[in-house]
Amino acid sequence: MRTVLFVDDEQPIRNALERMYLERDDVRCLFAASGQEGLEILEKEDVWVVVSDYLMPGMRGIEFLSKVKGKRPDTVRIMMTAYADLSIAIDAINKSEAYRFVTKPWNNQDLMNVIDEALMRYQLVQSLVSDDETLYLSLAQTVELKDPYTKGHCDRVALYATSLARAAGLSNDFINDIKHGSWLHDCGKIGVPEEVLNYPGRLSEENLETVMQHPRWGSEVARQARMSETVINVILYHHERYDGDGYPSGLKGEQIPIEARVVAIADVFDALYSDRPYRKAFEFSRVIEIMGEMTATHFDPRLMDLFLPISEEVRTNG
Ligand SMILES: [Fe+2]
Repeated sequence: MRTVLFVDDEQPIRNALERMYLERDDVRCLFAASGQEGLEILEKEDVWVVVSDYLMPGMRGIEFLSKVKGKRPDTVRIMMTAYADLSIAIDAINKSEAYRFVTKPWNNQDLMNVIDEALMRYQLVQSLVSDDETLYLSLAQTVELKDPYTKGHCDRVALYATSLARAAGLSNDFINDIKHGSWLHDCGKIGVPEEVLNYPGRLSEENLETVMQHPRWGSEVARQARMSETVINVILYHHERYDGDGYPSGLKGEQIPIEARVVAIADVFDALYSDRPYRKAFEFSRVIEIMGEMTATHFDPRLMDLFLPISEEVRTNG
């Protein structure tokens, strides 16, 4: 069960947090008045997310969180801090003792959103840690549910990407990793709010920034789940462009790992060739025309050449 442990030495704060979650029966809340007590609870309970106060008598928040990290590295750690301690909190995040911080006094909805995101992150890592392929796919489908227009997208991207990888002469193991990477390429979208993902018009600057975080967010999760470098590269670099104008790293040409160059082509092909919230699918000839114009700016031209006969086949077979 989705479990959150709150650690704060002040009773009124613990009470306020408890009240906040009264109506949420999908989250189990545990409370501790000190770091020591928190660690004891962690021994016995399956805690997904820890929210710790920074300034506590005895064990300080940072010390507590670093102990949590040592004992239960997968538990997602959130620090709560007064504005005055902000620079220390940021330092804690940089040293990766904490995943996020929340300032006191907090806004209930904001805090719950941060915790919900942390719970999702935990769940995601747990499903990725297993070797079970079917779990990866069901995870990809969970992400697709957030955006109904992308139904089947991950599976089709995997199909096109593996065909292209085969045409490029990559090894079977590599191709298998590309399949997993394709399924999971957008798993970072689990951290993007639905109203942003499904927004029918042009996104505001701020929301665009949020969406553009998905490769990094997803790859961090995959790394934490100890997935292979190939899978991580697909997730992290599938929005890079051949001319270096992509994101998040602005890699250029062959600097972009081939697995990501392969999936980028498959991803865009499927995006154009299927319905989207803001438009219908393009005709096949138009898809190829658009992708032709994008070759050299977006795609590896050599891979694009190999992809053309594959796209033909997709058209004939529906
Ligand atoms: Fe993406």
